[in-house]
Amino acid sequence: MTQSRSPQAPDRNLALELVRATEAAALAAGRWMGRNRKNEGDGAAVDAMRLVLNTVQMDGLVVIGEGEKDEAPMLFNGEEIGTGQPPEVDIAVDPIDGTRLLAQGRPGSLSVIAISPRGTMFDPGPMVYMNKWVVGPDALGAVDIDAPVAENLSNVAKAKGKKVQDLVCIMLDRDRHEDMMAEVRNAGARLRLIMDGDVAASLLALLPERKVDVLLGIGGTPEGVISSCAAHALGGEMQGRLWARDPDERAQAEAMGYDVDKPLTNDELVSSKDTFFVCTGITDGDLVDGVDYRAGAAVTESLVMRGKSGTVRFIQARHNLDKVMEYSSIDFE
Ligand code: FBP
Repeated sequence: MTQSRSPQAPDRNLALELVRATEAAALAAGRWMGRNRKNEGDGAAVDAMRLVLNTVQMDGLVVIGEGEKDEAPMLFNGEEIGTGQPPEVDIAVDPIDGTRLLAQGRPGSLSVIAISPRGTMFDPGPMVYMNKWVVGPDALGAVDIDAPVAENLSNVAKAKGKKVQDLVCIMLDRDRHEDMMAEVRNAGARLRLIMDGDVAASLLALLPERKVDVLLGIGGTPEGVISSCAAHALGGEMQGRLWARDPDERAQAEAMGYDVDKPLTNDELVSSKDTFFVCTGITDGDLVDGVDYRAGAAVTESLVMRGKSGTVRFIQARHNLDKVMEYSSIDFE
């Protein structure tokens, strides 16, 4: 028995309710797979997610909405969501991470929500991008966003008892990563490039049993804060640093009081370990399977986590669409 034990009755796990919102978003959005209509898919996910989130007993404030980057439909920052009763929480939503993946019928799109106590989520303001390093619990403390890539990879390999050439790094395939890609290759590690979806990629790095060791590179700030909630829940680590696209963006952020050059630790990105993270696959991916529509039904796969307990659940749900469509105001057909 540990010294810090303080027995209490099992309490509510909000994530088990939130998963209905990502399931609904995935079920609604999945119909748009490969139809090349990004905004329609996103709109379906946003509407379904908002409707279910508003039934959850919580006083939620959307700190991380999504959509500013490409003027897509969104759950907007500052929107209040839930029934308005306690607990007071900050919410980060990404109704679809990988809108392009869904539109093009490619693997890896998912619907995601993260929650932490009110006032604990970093608000990136006008900053759209963030440089990220993510590792799992077995490499905790091994990376430093200020250190050279080769040094970090050597420390990760050491922590994991592997050789650097055994490591798999995952990174968004972007021109801005040309130098970073070269550094990974020169260090001798293996590199997996993805088209989109760095939340799923961060989760692959955070979960020890998956075939990815490190996520690095510049991706969206919303996705960064969401991944930070997951890192808390899984006992892994995320480090970030805001990344300005041009001097104007930097100046705008600095005028608002942001220190763009400051490294952000996991505790600065989300200053509570009492986080909840849920995601549901829309198209098939390495993390979770996508929506499988069957005769009168659909099957979803979700990942559900809670920081307080560290419990990780994979939930496969069979939705009886024939029954649900008798009363649902969300169109799943
Ligand atoms: P969206 O689905 O919201 O467009 O995000 C996809 C994504 O790949 C994120 O996972 C990632 O963080 C971000 O876009 C990277 O931005 P960009 O495509 O502009 O490089």
